[in-house]
Amino acid sequence: MAEVVILPDAPSAGALVADEIVRLIRDRPHAVLGLATGSTPLPVYEALRSRLHGVDVSRVRGFALDEYVGIDPAHPQSYRSVITREVVEPLGLVPALIRTPDGRLEGIQHAGDQYEDAIEAAGGIDLQLLGIGTDGHIGFNEPGSSFASRTRVKTLTGQTRADNARFFASVDEVPVHCITQGLGTILRARHLVLLAFGEGKADAVAGAVEGPVTASLPGSAIQLHPHVTVVVDEAAASRLHYAEYYRDVWRNKPEWQGL
Ligand code: PGA
Repeated sequence: MAEVVILPDAPSAGALVADEIVRLIRDRPHAVLGLATGSTPLPVYEALRSRLHGVDVSRVRGFALDEYVGIDPAHPQSYRSVITREVVEPLGLVPALIRTPDGRLEGIQHAGDQYEDAIEAAGGIDLQLLGIGTDGHIGFNEPGSSFASRTRVKTLTGQTRADNARFFASVDEVPVHCITQGLGTILRARHLVLLAFGEGKADAVAGAVEGPVTASLPGSAIQLHPHVTVVVDEAAASRLHYAEYYRDVWRNKPEWQGL
């Protein structure tokens, strides 16, 4: 099962996950990170800033989960721009080693396969950061996505477009299509780290961790993966049936085990 770590707040969650990423990069200077956008991973990136001083990140590679389709890569809300601004520049990563799916309309029908090939050529993703949508999506795999899916074009749900409207002038400006790593792609990463904060994510977290494994809640795909760490604050943990057990597991976690 997923290891569920319940922490008091987002900064402590960010610190825990950042420590794990630093450990990974020290062990494996050519580590391949799976990067997520949205508000959720920001405390991780924030915590990494100070921790990466003096760590050689010149060979670290990265693959973003998803991108909007038809958006100019230079648009401030393209995930290429977001990853550059929030991750690559502040952490001093090498821009050429950090990829996002190519959401430009020209050649879009081949962009998914090319992204899969690039991930494979890099040797696969070592640690994949994940947020979860209020509708249970991971990446932009909306309800109904196949657990075997690869990187491909999807249509965003109205709920996701409304959730993301805060980044745009209005909901009408949120693109309708996206290109996202598939659930099958995500499940091939060696370690999944799913973060969620706030009451609004409590149902999605409970469904992903404890609900039936169903394409209707794509986050439940994590139950099929052998190495998953779910890091949540108290509010996002509030609907977890086995919360006391997860706290007990964390309190008694053997030191040697790592995340
Ligand atoms: P959020 O989005 O981090 O902005 O809440 C999560 C997601 O949609 O996966």
